[in-house]
Amino acid sequence: MVGTFEEAQVAATFDACEMRTMFISNYDYESSSYLPIAIPGHDGWFVIGKGSTRVAVLSPSNVIYKLHLYNEGPFNQREASYRKSLPDVIGICRVADSTLYNVDDEPVLAMEYIELPFAPKGQNSWDDDSLNKEIVRIEADCLEYEIYDVHDGNLGRDKDGTPVLIDYAG
Ligand SMILES: Nc1ncnc2c1ncn2[C@@H]1O[C@H](COP(=O)(O)OP(=O)(O)O)[C@@H](O)[C@H]1O
Ligand SMILES: [Mg+2]
Repeated sequence: MVGTFEEAQVAATFDACEMRTMFISNYDYESSSYLPIAIPGHDGWFVIGKGSTRVAVLSPSNVIYKLHLYNEGPFNQREASYRKSLPDVIGICRVADSTLYNVDDEPVLAMEYIELPFAPKGQNSWDDDSLNKEIVRIEADCLEYEIYDVHDGNLGRDKDGTPVLIDYAG
């Protein structure tokens, strides 16, 4: 189990689109990076990432909670049910643990917090050949499990450098 129902309940009170706006507004043009932003009125909670369908908040106990940007998205439910059929390691990549909490019918996905970014600062998968090969290798291995959205925004790393898949909703 990752996270707690109590924290999922707190996360469910956040408006996902508002969190995304706050997060984007906090982009740091100096360092060319998104920075975590504290959620007003909720000590120890931060908005830490956004994708095309979900926003990720970090709790005081260092757990990620993902909230749908749009209510219809079945992504959190899918991620949780996929996790059950996935091995802990796919090729060279570990799969982050996750747990689904249903808070008054809202699906909130808790996931272990993984260090980002996947690519070292100043490098990206387009112009770094070894990084690109690493990603393509993970992408190829993940096809077998019908995970089609492998890119550096959906990967992090363990402290020892092992790649970790953090988005396996599709
Ligand atoms: N387990 C995690 N640890 C650290 N950051 C995360 C984690 N899960 C998601 N994030 C951050 O939140 C962003 C959006 O989450 P993601 O699951 O990729 O949503 P989407 O399905 O919308 O692409 C990620 O690109 C990443 O920056
Ligand atoms: Mg993603």
